[in-house]
Amino acid sequence: MSHPGYSATVDFLLTGAGQLVTCDPELGEGPLGLVEHGAVAAAGGRVVYAGPQAGLPDLEPAAGAVRVDAGGRAVVPGFVDAHTHLVFAGDRAEEFAARLRGVGYEEALAAGGGINRTVRDTRAATDAELEAAAAGRLATALAHGTTTLEAKSGYGLTVTDERRSLEVLARLAGRSPVEVVPTFLGAHLIPEEFAADRDGYLDLLEHEMLPACAPLAEFVDAFCDRGALTVSESRRVLEAGARHGLRGKLHANELGATGGASLAAALGCVSADHLLFCDEPEARALAAAGTVAVLLPGTSFLLRTGRAAPVQVLRAAGVTMALGTDCNPGTCYSESMQLMVALACVHGGLTPEEAVLAATDGAARAVGRGGRAGRLAPGAACDLLVLAGRSYLDLAYHLGVNLAAVVVKGGTVAAGEGSPPGAGP
Ligand code: NIG
Ligand code: FE
Repeated sequence: MSHPGYSATVDFLLTGAGQLVTCDPELGEGPLGLVEHGAVAAAGGRVVYAGPQAGLPDLEPAAGAVRVDAGGRAVVPGFVDAHTHLVFAGDRAEEFAARLRGVGYEEALAAGGGINRTVRDTRAATDAELEAAAAGRLATALAHGTTTLEAKSGYGLTVTDERRSLEVLARLAGRSPVEVVPTFLGAHLIPEEFAADRDGYLDLLEHEMLPACAPLAEFVDAFCDRGALTVSESRRVLEAGARHGLRGKLHANELGATGGASLAAALGCVSADHLLFCDEPEARALAAAGTVAVLLPGTSFLLRTGRAAPVQVLRAAGVTMALGTDCNPGTCYSESMQLMVALACVHGGLTPEEAVLAATDGAARAVGRGGRAGRLAPGAACDLLVLAGRSYLDLAYHLGVNLAAVVVKGGTVAAGEGSPPGAGP
């Protein structure tokens, strides 16, 4: 029997999903497109069928096809981590301990610690050390269900060290199953040696760093905030990046109402990230520009200011929401999108359905992969997780353990049950 639109031979077949979360409302119930007793079939790494197992077309699995029995457990799309600072050396555990004693993030930064400290450690690391550290984090992310991950440079802040960070990402992309989306963040901070010549650093960034780094990046980002870059400095960086073909992202309104969100909307950035201080006009501007709000609940939780992004304002304005870990040594050292889904609910004010959508389909949009990742629908990448639980609710409810029982990337088991020994980056 032939089915128009379906490839007759599939090389991946998952059956026995007690609950299949497609994240495509056209394929099932509610905003998550829920299907009971679901199945997923794929060919060449792309989904050809996602829906009720009873409706599974007569597809012939190819010889050697990957078969997964979900055993009645829940199946969700692989997570897309929309915001990480994966490449860095050293750690800031003492700074974290000081924050627990009441020393604020901005205080540590102004005293020459914070990002400055990690820049010193990163510059001093060898290529091999930098790559091993980042590879370890990427493997952890994959084991916890991240199948696509945005990663920024930004702890080099010299032409050589920014380029080096992006080269590390390119090598990881070549050897890891995870799809790595590289972002140039040479504008993470004006480095200490340029404190008296801020424009001098931006000249260097525009005329030397961007030509060296843009070929290795998809996005350009800037830390537009108190103690980092101003709105006009950030504008200059994003506009220069655009001239090199890089699409914009912006760290905006994390530490204060600095106008970053308005800038992101005005420049049509793909995403504006953090947004702890976003007001209604800014939210409306983001919605009108189609700029995705990347919420980083691990960071807002760990900054310990009691503030989270104003979800009700973003929701009312109709802004698309995404989630990321922000994995970095200063504000949130975690590779786990599962933890972010939980924190988004218990600290950030999202519903579990919003949080799961933000960690998958929303995050895919935030990294320029809307419709291609973050959902289980025909044509999308066959990236999925079998959860150790019967429902997506477990992601918010069953805390502090790894619920990714099987991780599938592009129709291949990449981590968890059934993965080849030594699989991963
Ligand atoms: O997203 N805000 C800027 N960058 C990171 C923190 C980086 C750091 O402290 O090392 C963030 O929170
Ligand atoms: Fe960040």
